[in-house]
Amino acid sequence: MIVGIVAEKSASEARVAASPSSVQQLQKLGYQVQVQAGAGNRSYFSDEMYRAAGATLVSSGDAVWSSSDIVLKVNPPTLEESRHLRSSSCLISFLWPSRNVEMIEELKSHRVSSIAMDCIPRISRAQKMDALSSMTNIAGYRAIIEAANAYSGFFSGQITAAGKVPPAKIMVIGAGVAGLAAIGAARGLGAIVRAFDTRSAAKEQVQSMGAEFLELDYQEDGDGAGGYAKEMSPAFIAAEMALFAQQAKECDIIVTTAIIPNKPAPQLITAEMVRSMKPGSVIVDMAAEQGGNCELTEPSAIVEKHGVKIIGFTDLASRMASRSSSMYANNLANLLTVLTPAKDGVIQFDLEDDIVRGSLVTHQGTLRWPLPKIQTSVQPSPATTAPTDSKRLQTERESKRSAQLRPIYTAVGAFAVLLLLGLIGMVANERLITQLSVFVLSCFLGWQVVWSVTPALHTPLMSVTNAISGIIVVGAMLQIQQPWYSLSSILAAVAVLIATVNIAGGFLVTSRMLKMFHKGGT
Ligand code: NAI
Repeated sequence: MIVGIVAEKSASEARVAASPSSVQQLQKLGYQVQVQAGAGNRSYFSDEMYRAAGATLVSSGDAVWSSSDIVLKVNPPTLEESRHLRSSSCLISFLWPSRNVEMIEELKSHRVSSIAMDCIPRISRAQKMDALSSMTNIAGYRAIIEAANAYSGFFSGQITAAGKVPPAKIMVIGAGVAGLAAIGAARGLGAIVRAFDTRSAAKEQVQSMGAEFLELDYQEDGDGAGGYAKEMSPAFIAAEMALFAQQAKECDIIVTTAIIPNKPAPQLITAEMVRSMKPGSVIVDMAAEQGGNCELTEPSAIVEKHGVKIIGFTDLASRMASRSSSMYANNLANLLTVLTPAKDGVIQFDLEDDIVRGSLVTHQGTLRWPLPKIQTSVQPSPATTAPTDSKRLQTERESKRSAQLRPIYTAVGAFAVLLLLGLIGMVANERLITQLSVFVLSCFLGWQVVWSVTPALHTPLMSVTNAISGIIVVGAMLQIQQPWYSLSSILAAVAVLIATVNIAGGFLVTSRMLKMFHKGGT
């Protein structure tokens, strides 16, 4: 079969559905690949690069549409483009079926099998094909880069001869894929980041990225089905907006990503909040396409209101076209790998497969939309990520009690050991008692040291104790006597060798481990 890659028509779209490396992957699956000339130019993939990867370059876009068995694309096709598709061919692209009803009807009537990349179920097996996440991840990062570009201050704090500069304060609303990527990028640039989300599971994720989770004194969990959010009550929205109003006065940058599937974006930042922000502040409204989380957002534009720049770009992933095209092309190639089990260049639609079932919108002249719901696994259930309050209280109580009892256990243990040594001393000689005492004391000290160290540091600790255990070298050297070939000298020499390896290896591993705790360490 022939796979065709067409150029995107939209002026704001710089991405392309194949990279030179994905072209090679498709050929390994048995497909012939043809690319519309110039399709990759804006992603910095030249025609020459595609040709070198084994693709055929076709000058006319219409010819690619009409001569391909499978067409790969980024954005949904226009009505006119979809009419060029061959009957019984296949189209794989972002389709947004609920917004493009007429185009989907056209695909159905042409008996085109169409797979919507925006519908790939978020199950573990489909992660490699999850284009929605890969593109949103890039967009979240880019949102911070756009904010940094529009903001006139530093992200990280600075102390210079000319004065002290505090770090930028950033609030991220919505900690889904985009929000977490934005938090990561902002933290990486040194800003102070705080975030809010309605889902309880988001709290731990936010904190693990080094940001503060803003707490709301209002009990309502926003967890919906499959890890997505559910719509919140008006009272909750009012409470969170009061929190945002307070934060708006303090924060330099606000990034909003709040969205509930198939609903308009909740409006959370009012004109009044924008007015209360410091002049020169920035808002990036990632939900601009769904109506925006900020009242003053204008989609696809950057506007300045009350001294605050409001960015409503809807093409954030496309602004990093080379990287996003490569990732999208990989998502498509991974999907085609599943759809071509025999690697014979023939696509198979196994309707028993969750990935196919969850994303095949039209097939053999039938409309399969709305698609069956597939149990998603992308977000762990709250029960597995955060202990409930009662469980947490119980654990805290138990660890407090064990801390109180520890000195008592230690005293009882010490008394028992002394008693034992005394009893042994009545029958054994002085040398044995001395050695036993040293042994018991070293066990006790070792146990105390390990016990007092945070579990996360146990591995480096073990490697350093390993190195210290190289004290054996000293003991072994004392055992080396004349003649050198006596059994004790040979054993001592072996002990010196092994202990030396222990010392060198121990310190080497320790230093590598500790490097991992340093920022930017490898
Ligand atoms: P997601 O569904 O993974 O995350 C949205 C988050 O918002 C969820 O964690 C949800 O709990 C939270 N949320 C919902 N209502 C809320 C409320 N009232 N208060 C606080 N948090 C709330 O979505 P994802 O994939 O992270 O995308 C986020 C947005 O970014 C979407 O609107 C998407 O269309 C947009 N996007 C924009 C791009 C652009 O170029 N502008 C590119 C890619 C995505």
